[in-house]
Amino acid sequence: MRVLVIGGGGREHAIVDACVRHGHEVLCTPGNPGIARLARILSGPQDPAALADLAVREAADVVVVGPEAYLAAGVVDACAARGVPAFGPTQAASRLEGDKAWSKAFMVRHGVPTAAHHSFAALEAALAHLNGLSFPTVVKDAGLRAGKGVTIAYTRAEAEAALRDIFTQPQAQAVVEDFMTGQEVSVLALCDGERYALTPPSQDHKTIFEGDTGPMTGGMGVICPFPLSAGQLDVIRREIVERTLAGMRADGEPFRGVLYAGLMLTPAGPKVVEFNARFGDPEAEAVLPLLESDLAQHALDAARGQLDPANVRFRGGASAVVVLAAPGYPAEPRKGIPLELPEPDQGDLIYHAGTAEQDGQLVSSGGRVLAVTATAPTLPEALARSYALVRRIGFPEAQYRRDIGFRLGLEGPEDPAQP
Ligand code: GLY
Repeated sequence: MRVLVIGGGGREHAIVDACVRHGHEVLCTPGNPGIARLARILSGPQDPAALADLAVREAADVVVVGPEAYLAAGVVDACAARGVPAFGPTQAASRLEGDKAWSKAFMVRHGVPTAAHHSFAALEAALAHLNGLSFPTVVKDAGLRAGKGVTIAYTRAEAEAALRDIFTQPQAQAVVEDFMTGQEVSVLALCDGERYALTPPSQDHKTIFEGDTGPMTGGMGVICPFPLSAGQLDVIRREIVERTLAGMRADGEPFRGVLYAGLMLTPAGPKVVEFNARFGDPEAEAVLPLLESDLAQHALDAARGQLDPANVRFRGGASAVVVLAAPGYPAEPRKGIPLELPEPDQGDLIYHAGTAEQDGQLVSSGGRVLAVTATAPTLPEALARSYALVRRIGFPEAQYRRDIGFRLGLEGPEDPAQP
C-alpha cells in the first residue's frame, strides 16, 4: 500500500516505522529528519482541504493522522469527501478530546466512569465554585493545549491562577473536577466505529521532574505493558471502551481511529481522566514497536468500518521510552542545540520528536526532541537498554527523567549523572 502519514513528531515517526516494517511505501507531511530516512517527505499547506488534495494527487491508499489538531480541523472529513480512507475520527467525533466540557458531559450521559466535575464558560462562575472546594482539585482547559492544559491545584491560589490563565483566551471553557488517586494508565483502542482492539496498556510520566513533580508536559517517558488485573481490564473494556463506542454511535458520530483512554486506577476501579482521539505521544513510541501485525492494514480496515480485532496482534515482551527534552521545556525550550545520534542496536529506536537540520547538522527544534525506545523480553531490561542508549546520545543540557517506571518499583539508570 501507499500510506500517507500526517504529522511530524515522535508519534508519527513510530507510525511510519510500523508501516515501513510491513513493506508499505510511506509518504509523510510535514515529517522530520528522522522520518525522512524511512519515508518520502512532502511539504506544503497543512489545512484539511490541501491535505486531502495531496492524498488524492499521491494516490494514497490510506491516510493515517497523528496529531489531534489535524483531527479537530477536520482532515478526516476532508479525505472522506474526496473518497480517500483516513484513519482517525471525524471532526465531530474528535470532540471527545478537543472539547473536554463536551467530553465530560458525554461520559456522564453514557455512564462512563469518570471524576465528578463542573464546566464553566466564565471566569467569575468558576472562581465562585472554588469557594466550596477542598484541595487538591483538577483544573482543565476544555480546549486543546498539547497536553499542557491540566493543573493539579493543591491550593485555592493555584486553582485561581490556572483558571485566570485559561480565561485569557477567547471563548475559553474550563472544567474543574475531583482529584483522583491511584496509578495512571493509558489504554489505546484501534476502533472502526463498532469493533475495537486494545493495544497493551502503558504508563506515561507527564510531569517534567522526577517523582511526578513540576509542570505538566506532553509526556516524558513510557513503560509498556503496564500490568492490569483481569478485573480492571474487564471494566475498561465493558464500562469504558464499549460504552464510549456505543455512546458515540447512539449520538450519530461513530468513533473510528484510536480511542486513547487516559485512566486512573482508583480504589473504586478504573475511571477516565481524559479521552484523546489519537495515538498517545510518547505512548505510540512504546506500543507500536510491539505491534506484530500490520498497522497500515488495520488503519485501512478501521477507516472502512471493517476492523477484525483478531487480526491485531502484539508480540510478547516489553518496551520503555525515555524522552529527551530541550533545556527550558516546557515553558521555553531552547532550539538549535546540536545533536549527535548513534546507530541504535537491534530492538532499540531513536524516534525524532522535535528535530531539524541546519546546514547539514541535526539540531533540536522543539520541546520534546527525541523519544529513546528499547524493546526487550522484560520491562527492567527494556528500561536499562533505553537508558544505556540515552547515554550514547550527544545532546548537551538535555532534560530527561531518571525515574521512568518508578511507580512499578523499576530502577532508573545505573549512572544517573550521565549524560
Ligand atoms: N502522552 C500524553 C498524550 O499523548 O496526550
